[in-house]
Amino acid sequence: MNRPWWVDAVVYQVYLRSFCDADGDGVGDLAGLRARFSHLVELGVDALWLNPCYASPQRDHGYDIADYFAVDPQYGSVDDIAALVQDAHAAGLRVLMDMVANHCSDQHPWFVEALAAPAGSPARDRFLFRDGTGPDGKLPPNNWGSVFGGPAWTRAREATGEPGQWYLHSFDSSQPDLNWRNPEVREYFEDVLRFWFDLGVDGFRIDVAQGMVVASDLPDLTAEHRGVAGGHPMWDQPEVHEIYRGWRRVGDSYGEERYFVGEIWVQGADRLRSYLAPDELHQAFHFDLLVQPWHAARIREAIDNGLRTSLVSGRPTAWALNNHDVHRVVTRYGQEQDLTRPDPDDLLAAARRTGPVDLELGRARARAAAMLLLALPGSVFVYQGEELGLAEDFSLPDHARQDPIWLRSAGAQLGRDGCRVPLPWAADAPSFGFSLRPGSEPWLPMPADFADAAVDRQEQDPDSFLTLYRTLLGLRRSLFDADDPLEWLVGPSPDVLALRRGSGLCVLNFGSVPVSLSEQAADAVVARSRPGVDPTIPQDSAAWIDADRVPGALERHLWTSASVQGAPTRL
Ligand code: NOJ
Repeated sequence: MNRPWWVDAVVYQVYLRSFCDADGDGVGDLAGLRARFSHLVELGVDALWLNPCYASPQRDHGYDIADYFAVDPQYGSVDDIAALVQDAHAAGLRVLMDMVANHCSDQHPWFVEALAAPAGSPARDRFLFRDGTGPDGKLPPNNWGSVFGGPAWTRAREATGEPGQWYLHSFDSSQPDLNWRNPEVREYFEDVLRFWFDLGVDGFRIDVAQGMVVASDLPDLTAEHRGVAGGHPMWDQPEVHEIYRGWRRVGDSYGEERYFVGEIWVQGADRLRSYLAPDELHQAFHFDLLVQPWHAARIREAIDNGLRTSLVSGRPTAWALNNHDVHRVVTRYGQEQDLTRPDPDDLLAAARRTGPVDLELGRARARAAAMLLLALPGSVFVYQGEELGLAEDFSLPDHARQDPIWLRSAGAQLGRDGCRVPLPWAADAPSFGFSLRPGSEPWLPMPADFADAAVDRQEQDPDSFLTLYRTLLGLRRSLFDADDPLEWLVGPSPDVLALRRGSGLCVLNFGSVPVSLSEQAADAVVARSRPGVDPTIPQDSAAWIDADRVPGALERHLWTSASVQGAPTRL
């Protein structure tokens, strides 16, 4: 069937500075990615998403871009991207880049020019400069806070050296927000897109896609703005949609569908759907699932929300359990589960909790969750290291931490370094094979137990995370066809999620009573998250079953009465 490639793609997220370092400077690079490209091919993914690798002072590791038409020298060159695209296409993989257009770097020539230009000048109008309030304009224009902590405004020094106007930065002060009501900004970014599309890039992940336009009157944030329908003045303004219509026109002008997926943090399915109109983005991450605790009903509810959005928008969901902004799922699921609903004003906090971790438990659950995720209709984004079962590294010494969240909160919040530690490739090599040439230390220290997680060790182990991911990716399309809708089956208890799509069944047991499969169903198990042979599906594990081998494949053919606890409840 002829459907766009992204509809059911598995996309591997490459956090380049931590993937593989070819030149021995301790920082991952494009040559390293190309050297280890076979890892992606053997894993069986369809595409890769490169976190930003444009020229950048790296204050937010590439999310602060100084030149959108250049690659940062520590990562390589534009020619290296062209070569990567060629390698990828030759292997049948697509390449997505990251488009960061809410803000640029304070080293971008536009911002340097704006600082040197007077208030009210065209150079300043590319950003959000405003006079301060209070005596001598000493106070910021309003009370907005930056996502990374502290105020969202910084006072600039005028060319005379005097304190002057304030500029808005939704994130770090080194990331000034752009003024998307200025047509020059719009044209510039369409040129940026064309530049990379011309090079063969297949699409973009759009950074903070709900944030590019702020309320024009810059009102103070009040209690009314908080919560589900608050109309937050920094986010999700109606004019933002015009940007994506323009970007779609650019993408579509290439004759074949180039792809956009949005990082969109909005509250409620209706808001998310508005970005998925036929002339806007192809997909949006469904973060609702990522912020849920390990709990059957909560996970099912989040999946249902995603499916509903997909049904109404006609856009298959983009699922993910990890990315470079949240604690790794092994750690999250190994912590004590917090069943309070995530704070709608700070959804990410639910995925960045600290506290003791039972890693064995977390790993078992993360393996089961992977099976559920890969059984869902839509695309799945896998963050590098997820396939190795890496945990969040809470042991990083303070001095090594670099995340602006850590720096701006003066250490009160750990930030995101712990999910960005370089990948271990070879258990016995220096820096676990992260650097191909001996040289500097990796940019973040790697914990000693990474030896066990190293790719070369996991490849030899039939029960490893890596083997499980390879197996699942190999089976996924034959069991779960992109066109097959999801049907929930009645599980033997509310603690069991069981879904069917086409010829595939996925059963995940959250509860303490093992699910006893009928003989036929047990014979038709094609993958299980818990290693070993077991006629049951024990707690915190999942199985894929080939439904074609279970005649009738209805609930009553799947489990024996031994596993049914009381009357089955429709979840
Ligand atoms: C979201 C990105 O995923 C994150 O890593 C970054 O710090 C912020 N946007 C700011 O660009």
